[in-house]
Amino acid sequence: MVLDKDILSRHNAHMSHEQQVHNWTGETYFIQSYAKINLTLDILGRRADGYHDLATVMQMIDLSDTICLTAIDEDCVRVVCSRPDLSNADNLVVRAAQAVRQRLGLSQGVLIELQKRIPVAAGLAGGSSNATAVLLALQRWWHLPLSSTDLFAIAASLGSDVSFFLSGGQALCEGRGERVTPLPAHWPATMRWIVLLKPAIGIATATVFRNLPASDYTDATEGHTHSNNVCTALRTRQEFALEHLHNGLERSVLEHYPEVAAAREALLQAGARWVRLSGSGPTLFTTFPDLESAAQTEHTLRDQGYEVYLTRAIFPNGENVYYYH
Ligand code: C5P
Repeated sequence: MVLDKDILSRHNAHMSHEQQVHNWTGETYFIQSYAKINLTLDILGRRADGYHDLATVMQMIDLSDTICLTAIDEDCVRVVCSRPDLSNADNLVVRAAQAVRQRLGLSQGVLIELQKRIPVAAGLAGGSSNATAVLLALQRWWHLPLSSTDLFAIAASLGSDVSFFLSGGQALCEGRGERVTPLPAHWPATMRWIVLLKPAIGIATATVFRNLPASDYTDATEGHTHSNNVCTALRTRQEFALEHLHNGLERSVLEHYPEVAAAREALLQAGARWVRLSGSGPTLFTTFPDLESAAQTEHTLRDQGYEVYLTRAIFPNGENVYYYH
């Protein structure tokens, strides 16, 4: 077990006697864990460590998994998932809880029950969101003395998308994805309703990055990325050109996965004005200004047998400010 002495002494100093002797066993704590879409995704180049530098505007959406934590009288982390193939120690929720326990030298065990609704390996960062939800839940529930530096360090060690969910809402994420700049709670009213279409395949992010030719990178001369352009527009409540809703992974994914190309065509036929890939896919999304057309598109696609979700952008603390162009 790796013990960080500084953190541990801070932990003990901050813990009241009552907290130290508190037996959490049997108590439970529920939390919702939300998905994201990528409004933009610029790939800027390949790094020496094999990862890619990127700039992406991420938006949290109202599609969530439910997590129930129960303190158990064992020195371990257990997981039970509504999808049995995810009930194992590789699940990011287990790695997140273990990281917290190891960093603080905690022996308190926890059972994590995970009800999945967010599609898996879909470009919606469900697994990353689950990991962050567990980190934040344990911190709040057990009053753990994890600073934001500790939380960002643990999050970055778990995956590139995990850090975004520490603040959630809307953010510009850079570097590997772990450098997060939260953006104001603004979302164009013309994009009130979001329709997601999840083609019936899963895609591993690593495969998509491996297939990516350098010709699909964004030319970021003088910092002109699609992400920066959209960020500025969102900050200043200006309109942005649809061409800036760019995902540098999309061309390659459409080329390698005919199911995604067919689903994109189906969305356009069903009334979408434009269609974008979220993250490394395969989930595609579009937006509508009104529920009537969004629901019509949703029903048309569902009748064709597609997995479809009608959702919206959400921000923490109910700060849901939508603006009109
Ligand atoms: O960080 P995460 O585990 O989510 O990344 C999965 C894979 O996606 C990495 O192993 C890497 O191959 C690729 N990736 C990348 N550049 C990034 C993020 C992910 O090449 N910025």
